[in-house]
Formats: sequence, C-alpha cells, structure tokens
Amino acid sequence: LAVHLVSFFFSKLQEDPTKKVDRFLHAMRLHDDQLTDISMRFLAEIKKGLSTESHAAATVKMLPTHVRSTPDGTEKGQFIALDLGGSKFKVLQVKVREDKGLRKGGVEMEEKIYPIPNELQDGRGAELFDHVSESLKDFLQEKNISLEEKHPLAFTFSFPCEQLSLDKGLLLRWSKNYKARGLQGKNVVQVLREAIDRTGGMDIEVLAMVNDTVATMMTCGFDDKYCNVGLIIGTGTNACYMEQMRHVDLVEGDEGRMCVNTEWGAFGDDGALNDFITEFDRDVDAASMNPGKQIFEKMVSGMYLGELVRLVVLKMAKRGLLFDGFVSDALRTKGKITTAHVAAMEEYRNGLKNTRDILVQLDLAPSPDDCVAVQHVSTIVSFRSSNLVAAGLAAILTRIKQNRNLRALRITVGVDGTVYKTHPQYPKRLHKVVRRLLPESQVRFALSDSGSSKGAALVTAVAQRLASQRRK
Ligand code: GLC
Repeated sequence: LAVHLVSFFFSKLQEDPTKKVDRFLHAMRLHDDQLTDISMRFLAEIKKGLSTESHAAATVKMLPTHVRSTPDGTEKGQFIALDLGGSKFKVLQVKVREDKGLRKGGVEMEEKIYPIPNELQDGRGAELFDHVSESLKDFLQEKNISLEEKHPLAFTFSFPCEQLSLDKGLLLRWSKNYKARGLQGKNVVQVLREAIDRTGGMDIEVLAMVNDTVATMMTCGFDDKYCNVGLIIGTGTNACYMEQMRHVDLVEGDEGRMCVNTEWGAFGDDGALNDFITEFDRDVDAASMNPGKQIFEKMVSGMYLGELVRLVVLKMAKRGLLFDGFVSDALRTKGKITTAHVAAMEEYRNGLKNTRDILVQLDLAPSPDDCVAVQHVSTIVSFRSSNLVAAGLAAILTRIKQNRNLRALRITVGVDGTVYKTHPQYPKRLHKVVRRLLPESQVRFALSDSGSSKGAALVTAVAQRLASQRRK
C-alpha cells in the first residue's frame, strides 16, 4: 500500500503531459475569434478572385466550372468515369437511374483502382495520360464493356483548371503529389483524347471534366436539393459552391447560378495567413514539391498532417521534452508519420495503445507520459485542420447567405476525402465548430461517399438533361 501511495502522490506531483504540449503548440490552438478573423480574410479572397479587376492577382482563384445546375433527380444515363488526383486513380462505370430497381440515390457504380507509379506523377505528362487511357481500356475489357460501341466519358480531374467550357480546361498548375511535365496551360480534355487515340481500339467521347469538389457536390445534390456546397478533405483540400452568375465576372451572363471552384488550398500563398503560420508549417512547405504554394492546404490536408505531427514530435524530443531527449533515425525521416497514423492515434478506445505501437515502430521507447503527449500533439494538429476548414466554410456559407439576402440559411454541404472519412473525430469536430461560427444557420453535412468519382457522371447527365430541355 505504501508503495502505491508514494507512486500516487508522485504522479500527482508530476505535470499532466498534455500541458507541456499545449504550451509548446500554443500557436496551433486557434480560438473562435481567430477563426472568425480567418473567415473574414477568406471572404475578402472570394471577392478578389471573382471580380475581373482583381482576378489575375488573386491567390484564391475562384474558377468558374460551367456547371449551372445541381441535379434535379430526373437525370439518367450510363457513363464511364475517370477519377484522377485523389489518393487513388479509379476507372468506373456509373449508371444513373438506368434500372427501375435502384434504391434511393439512383446511382450505381463499379470501379477499379489502378496504381499510378511515382515516376509517372512527376514524369512526362503524355506518359501519365497514356497510363490513364491504357487503364481505361483494361477496365472496359475486364468488365466486358463493348469496345465497338461509343461510350460517353466524364473526367474528375482534381487540380486547378481554368475552364472555358465543360469539356475544355487549361491546367493552371499541379498541386499535391503531382508534377508531370508539359501539361501546364494545356487543355487537359484534349490531352486525354489524344492519349485515348494513341491507345486505340475504343470509341470514347469525353464530354465533361470536373473538379472533385464539384463532383462531390453533384453526387450529394442528387439526393438533397439543399446541397449547394462541395468539400474535399483528403490528400488535398478544396471547396466549391453555387455562386450567383451576376457575380461570376469571368463568364458572360447574369442569370441563374454557376458552381465556382474556389481552389482554397492556395489561401495564404500571398502571405494572408502569415500570422497563423508556425515554424512547422514553414518546414513542411520548404520540403514540399511546391514551396510557397498551397499554404492553406499544407496546414489542413492529409498529405501533410502526419508530417506536421512528426516535425513537432522531433522538435520536442530534441528539446528533451519527449523520450528523455532521445531521437531515432526513423523519427528524423520525412514521411514516417502518416495521416493514417494520426487517425489511429486518435481512435476512441485504442488511441493510446496505437500511439505507443507507432512510436515503437519508429524505434523509440516511449514512457506512458510520452504516449499521452504525442497523442495530444496529434489532436492539436488535426483539430487545427478542422478548425481552419470550418473557418473557410463559414466564409462560403456567409457569402451564400448574403447573396440570397437571407437571415438564416438552410444548406447541405457534401463532403468527401480520406481525412474526413477515416479520422475518427474529424467530422464531429468540424460540424461543431461550423455550427458555433454560424449559430443562426441550419447546416447539414452529408458524406458524399465516392462522390468525387460518381459526380462527374452526374455533371454529364445534368448537361445532357439541360441540352434536351433546350431542344424541346
Ligand atoms: C488540390 C487541388 C484541387 C482539389 C483538391 C482536393 O487542392 O488543387 O483542385 O480539389 O486538391 O483534391
């Protein structure tokens, strides 16, 4: 008993290990007034990106998508879809209300994932697209889809493109883990068509190209007419929403609405977030494929969260605040902590055990307090991510509310992306902060599962419906 009492008092004397983390990561813990401040800054970026005078200099590009309507649920058709730019490259067959037997949602799909070798992601652009079109042909053959018949194809391409029409989009620049040469400024649809011709032996008509945010909004919009926002929190992060045409200066016409791809990942590229940026963000940026670009994305998305955690843990260890000051080679190595690790460390019941296992895998010998501290690092980093997304989203929702002259807004946000889908606490935290920032609005979040893949087909289906209405 005496031994127990001594150790009890001793542990009471020792500081709660989360406290030192809180102090160390003070700058990453954002309060609501800071989030409101960030939200206001983003609202200013929205205006800058939309207006003709400031668009060229704007960092947040607010790209018109030429998608003018969300689905009304009557769309139908069968499409082949490609989804490039997320964590996985997929080829799909999407059937929109072809069978009467389909359940709610009315969208059925079959998909196959094709790995993209790293050397293609930063090799020659034409080779990347040859791989895409060869995978497409393999898919048609494997699924016994006729090679002779003509197939409409919809393309989800998750990078910033200046779209001149639904089937014409010039790549502005790469982001995330892609950097293929020779494609910047090119019409990506044309590049795809040429690759399909080179592969040969298929009759494919590429009808539309969309960003993954747009696809996500459309998929969710098929079931929910209030869905006017699409959000991705995956390898990268981005959002789109339905803007009034009269505010979309880059496209002629004032009637109705058009979906705008914000490309919010670039928020901060001009220094707009400098007072929120930490030394860890600067290090992640410096070691990235695109230094100085996609600053907001690097604070938020799955490609960087694990790395942020690793850099914080490394620095704390070097300072003697963790592992008795011991640092392993693995902990010094870029990429050794991934977003999947971050999600595992924050699991409800097994989080602490997972944290220990992960640290042991990194050749560290963590004490119980070290595990608690590292888990808390992970929480602060991922919480900051959801807070920043909430701030961006609050700006978009405020914008929509102002556009429509409403006091209270009822709206649905369609969400897809690995971080949102796999991090055990992320969605709950995000929803809570958004609702706290916009207490008067009714915001629903709908997981648009595989939305980024299905939605391209829906965009095409909507375009076909609108075209046939015009003909009538
Ligand atoms: C990057 C891309 C953007 C995409 C997002 C999510 O930010 O630039 O187009 O929507 O990642 O995949």
